[in-house]
Amino acid sequence: MPAVDSFPGLQRSKPLYSSDDVTVIFVLGGPGAGKGTQCAKLVADYGFKHLSAGDLLREEQDRPGSQFGEMIKDYIREGIIVPMGVTVQLLENAMGATIENEGKRMFLIDGFPRKMDQALVFEKGVCPSRFTLFFHCPEEVMQERLLNRGKTSGRSDDNSESIKKRFKTFIETSMPVVDHFEKEGKVVKVDAVDTPDGVYEVVKQKLKERGIEPSK
Ligand code: C5P
Ligand code: MG
Repeated sequence: MPAVDSFPGLQRSKPLYSSDDVTVIFVLGGPGAGKGTQCAKLVADYGFKHLSAGDLLREEQDRPGSQFGEMIKDYIREGIIVPMGVTVQLLENAMGATIENEGKRMFLIDGFPRKMDQALVFEKGVCPSRFTLFFHCPEEVMQERLLNRGKTSGRSDDNSESIKKRFKTFIETSMPVVDHFEKEGKVVKVDAVDTPDGVYEVVKQKLKERGIEPSK
């Protein structure tokens, strides 16, 4: 990949994909809100392609020869947002490969955009989003889930020190993105405290209200 600030997506003045042709739903919520869990359920019933920005970053971090591996590792452990060029380019590459190889054109983009610059650049240069599915959850509940997950996840950031930093980043850096889309009437908010199945019932209902029905 080229240097961080010279990715093609950052220069584009028109989106690569039109929202008539490609459906993008952003999935946001604090760390441990259950974004990945709900996305897995949506993939099974609706035929979406699930792209997790965090997973793509961890994959790039572990890719032998990646020029960004060390940087990504530091940012993730510190719970801060990786410079957007890397993340936007990884998403754009994954979307292109999905369209080409699987013919899918409906995407759940999970854990993105986590910062205003990512939101603006992605919608301007890659694809405008249809809406943001936002999972709302109190910190105590998310903390308990993350510490529990940390017992088996092997993630460098599922420990109480990193979790504290991730919560801070979420409030200071990511919530402004939700507020921005809220002003555009593009946020679908779901309470995420219930069990995965309980939350999912509400998700299905709210997607239906937005005209999105299961594919089977
Ligand atoms: O979504 P997930 O919890 O897997 O993200 C893990 C970490 O990856 C974040 O805390 C952040 O350091 C990084 N990340 C990012 N930009 C994104 C998504 C994740 O920098 N859009
Ligand atoms: Mg996740």
